[in-house]
Amino acid sequence: MTLSVGVLLSGGGSNLQSIVDHIDEGFLEARIRVVLSNEPKAGGLARAQKHRIQTSVLDHRSYSSREEHDSALLKVLQAEGVEVVCLAGYMRLLGKSLVRAYPGRILNIHPALLPSFPGLDAQQQAADYGVRISGATVHFVDEFLDHGPIIIQGAVPAYPGEGRDDLARRILTLEHRIYPQALQWLARDRLRLTDGRVHLLPDKERSVKGSRSQPLLVNPPLEEGF
Ligand code: GAR
Repeated sequence: MTLSVGVLLSGGGSNLQSIVDHIDEGFLEARIRVVLSNEPKAGGLARAQKHRIQTSVLDHRSYSSREEHDSALLKVLQAEGVEVVCLAGYMRLLGKSLVRAYPGRILNIHPALLPSFPGLDAQQQAADYGVRISGATVHFVDEFLDHGPIIIQGAVPAYPGEGRDDLARRILTLEHRIYPQALQWLARDRLRLTDGRVHLLPDKERSVKGSRSQPLLVNPPLEEGF
């Protein structure tokens, strides 16, 4: 099934770009119907336009409440026939009515291993805390900040003394892989949400190579014998 996707963003749009690239390369069965931004100057708008994707700017400062802004967003999403909403660096909380209009159909990506470090500049929060492993999370969205059932997480090492930006770059590279993957699972109807947990159904058409191997990232690395 080709997913009809609407992307909400506030910034540069590198995650949007990765979704577009995976569609163009035939790895993701989706079509982006519209890109919406609450920030008129968001770089993601120009990226969308370059790919001839329809854009719409709904500046939240022009609305008197979150509800009003959300309902304007919803109108555009519905008018464009959007089935799945992707938050890709959308730096605003969604209100209840928007979340409820797309039950189990809104995804977000966050640059940390949730539930650690929700909110703004998660990479700085992780660097400040001194974690040795951080990463990124794609999750279904509920009405709380960076919260909801987790679909996929990826981890990267964090090194003492390195700046926030080096960690952020490593995390972003990972984001660009896990977000399109989560969407493709949705397109293939392989995600089931039961009791607040996400289950990934096996691919009917392909047996997954290496499915028995345990992914493991330990940092600093384990020494011999451990
Ligand atoms: C990404 O790192 C994304 O995970 C983050 O904003 C960045 C957007 O980058 N989102 C959040 O922090 C959500 N709480 P992009 O505009 O280049 O895709």
